[in-house]
Amino acid sequence: MSRAKHASDIAAMSREEAMAELARLAEEIGRHDARYYQEDAPTISDAAYDALRQRNAAIEARFPDLVRADSPTHRIGAKPVEKFGKVQHARPMLSLDNAFTEEDVTDFLDRIRRFLRLGASEPLTMTAEPKIDGLSASLRYEEGQLSLGATRGDGQEGENVTQNILTIPDIPHKLRGRNIPAIVEVRGEVYMAHEDFSALNARQAKTGEKIFANPRNAAAGSLRQLDPSITASRPLRFFAYAWGEMSAMPAPTQAGIVEAFAQWGFAINPHFTLCENAQEMLAFYRAIEAKRASLGYDIYGVVYKVNRLDFQERLGFIARSPRWAIAHKFPAERAQTLLEAIDIQVGRTGAMTPVAKLRPVTVGGVVVSNATLHN
Ligand code: IVH
Repeated sequence: MSRAKHASDIAAMSREEAMAELARLAEEIGRHDARYYQEDAPTISDAAYDALRQRNAAIEARFPDLVRADSPTHRIGAKPVEKFGKVQHARPMLSLDNAFTEEDVTDFLDRIRRFLRLGASEPLTMTAEPKIDGLSASLRYEEGQLSLGATRGDGQEGENVTQNILTIPDIPHKLRGRNIPAIVEVRGEVYMAHEDFSALNARQAKTGEKIFANPRNAAAGSLRQLDPSITASRPLRFFAYAWGEMSAMPAPTQAGIVEAFAQWGFAINPHFTLCENAQEMLAFYRAIEAKRASLGYDIYGVVYKVNRLDFQERLGFIARSPRWAIAHKFPAERAQTLLEAIDIQVGRTGAMTPVAKLRPVTVGGVVVSNATLHN
């Protein structure tokens, strides 16, 4: 079942229906687990099995207080760890250079053309996609089976969070389809959607637990839990957009590889697009910026990448960023709100500072309710 279908059916569910459906799914998934793990005789496809787990997780995200003690999301057979093990990335996890202006973007394209010695009339297709505000993770599959999930860490060495990664419904435990390379490392962003973040904070407030400042913080705090059953109860999502070690490439272009990720069972960003020139890239940037507030998750710019992998290979890297990609950042967010009062704060030395008490407003991913007025 597609995520959209999920969303409409689950959005219309009553609490009673959700409770009954969660009980039914716990039983059904439990039966398939036993057939798969104990009897080695599965009776449904991996895709159908993942769909059941995803449906269960989506209902739990909407009704967090109905999560069952025997929920399939918790049943991954893993115990809490004392501390995460360190893992060396097979290929470093790089950062991106930034562009802040339209001129930075055209300079970036000019540099690429010069480097590749491309004439002005030769095509240079670029990909464009939102820059997701979450935390990056690297997922290693051996013979199609998820064998390691790691955080970025310092880019060379991250933390082994495999048991936590296994609880994220967007991440397949086994890659779907045929002709899967023996070694695949899929990289992307673990993030939390706005609606899930609000529901989580409401639940945290109810139980007197920590309130998260923004979805990125909540995603990071949730992924780095030593007890995977806590991660399982947090509504994390994942977009696949890059790769590390691959024993074979499924396509000769960035777009082709992202398409392969989707076929293997990953969520990919629906706004991913191809651009033939700077005008199309800047039009994409403006269109995404206009949609920013209604996307349902935080983004902080767009990323452009050279589409052809042979070009990417020739362009290589400077320091720790690829020469073939750049992040075009949105300007710092602004917001309007109401000034409700002005307090006077008296410092240790007796200096007085007026402090604005604001009606709380979210700006740049944090809730602002005070502002010093020293200027
Ligand atoms: S590509 C070699 N694509 O941005 C390029 N990164 O500044 C690998 N990020 O650590 C990254 N959305 O956490 C890429 N669509 C996207 C992204 C993205 C968010 C983050 C990622 C990375 C950081 C680099």
